[in-house]
Amino acid sequence: MIFVTGGAGFIGSNFVLDWLAQSDEGVLNYDKLTYAGNLNNLKSLQGDARHIFVRGDICDQAGVLALLQQHQPRAIVHFAAESHVDRSILGPGEFIQTNINGTFSLLEAARAYWSALPDDEKAAFRFLHVSTDEVYGTLGPDDAPFSETTPYAPNSPYSASKAASDHLVRSYHHTYGLPTLTTNCSNNYGPYHFPEKLIPLIISNALGGKPLPIYGDGQQVRDWLYVGDHCAAIRRVLAEGRLGETYNVGGWNEMANLDAVHTLCDMLDKLRPKAAGSYRDQITFVKDRPGHDRRYAIDARKLERELGWKPAETFQSGIAKTVQWYLDNQAWVQDVQSGAYAKWVETNYQNREA
Ligand code: NAD
Ligand code: DAU
Repeated sequence: MIFVTGGAGFIGSNFVLDWLAQSDEGVLNYDKLTYAGNLNNLKSLQGDARHIFVRGDICDQAGVLALLQQHQPRAIVHFAAESHVDRSILGPGEFIQTNINGTFSLLEAARAYWSALPDDEKAAFRFLHVSTDEVYGTLGPDDAPFSETTPYAPNSPYSASKAASDHLVRSYHHTYGLPTLTTNCSNNYGPYHFPEKLIPLIISNALGGKPLPIYGDGQQVRDWLYVGDHCAAIRRVLAEGRLGETYNVGGWNEMANLDAVHTLCDMLDKLRPKAAGSYRDQITFVKDRPGHDRRYAIDARKLERELGWKPAETFQSGIAKTVQWYLDNQAWVQDVQSGAYAKWVETNYQNREA
């Protein structure tokens, strides 16, 4: 079996669902269930003996080690993190705790477990660390996309904490020989995306008749990748990635935020037309994110060249599936928007006067 951390979050739950749709190898899903973790994402696995869920914190080294020893996974796929840049600006402490201390704690548990394995299992073991393109900082309009050799230059507490975790993973390979792999991916979108992030926020605000908040001038560029393509890339790297290497994952889908929001509005205008006017009428420009990175773009040619991975979805095809998923799953959205979500929206947007 494989041991997945953060498998109740957005990408982790998509990965667990994809994994079990394609293989009978079991998954031990270890997740703290913070505000971002949601067992409803995994509802379709109820009663499926291949999926074991354990609620726990990656900072609990002894607890993780005991689970590793009990279940003997052949790999750890590490998604668990605090993942939202805006939350890291308003409260960086949790990001340091989970992303840095938590990854350190997980690495220590993995090292203790792996060191004691018989030689053949030791050689086959993998620790795959899921990271982000944000560790590379920001690009100018004419800069080449981030490659695996681009120097790290993180600009938010979130990206700095992920950069630190990447360095720890690297050091465990070089120092202890732990068979690590790291992926650095661009912005994902798709089903089960928590509606604090741009794409699901815009869809749910549009349908709810609320303002569509655009930070600054909306000309920041992101390189969007459908979550299923990210999951496929992780499977490829886990299967055949070279030990100690990092692989950039991206969609070749650079787009300014305002253009992405226009695309969403136009799609909703067709699929769920308003009584009058367009969803574009709800667009509102608000105060920018401090330290806002202007442009991300990923050069994913290493992954293509070495492991034969390519994204299957274009932005148009992936976003069409995503919008349809949100239209079909309004109950999921309403469920995550109850409780603490409302408080977050108030905190993040209250001082962003137009
Ligand atoms: P998410 O916030 O949706 O999910 C994170 C999950 O981790 C949640 O289920 C949460 O409960 C769990 N978690 C948080 N702290 C934990 C802890 N201390 N112990 C155990 N579980 C804990 O995040 P996501 O968007 O699914 O991102 C997953 C990973 O992919 C992260 O490492 C993130 O940095 C990386 N990533 C995300 C994107 C993106 O666009 N969302 C892009 C590239 C990389
Ligand atoms: O690049 C990969 C990263 O993508 C991941 O590592 C992060 O975990 C993930 O959250 C995402 O980070 P971003 O900051 O790029 O995503 P977010 O959806 O928060 O914002 C996307 C862009 O939209 C960004 O330029 C900020 C802007 N934005 C966001 C919100 C929430 C707005 O203009 N208005 C908003 O209300």
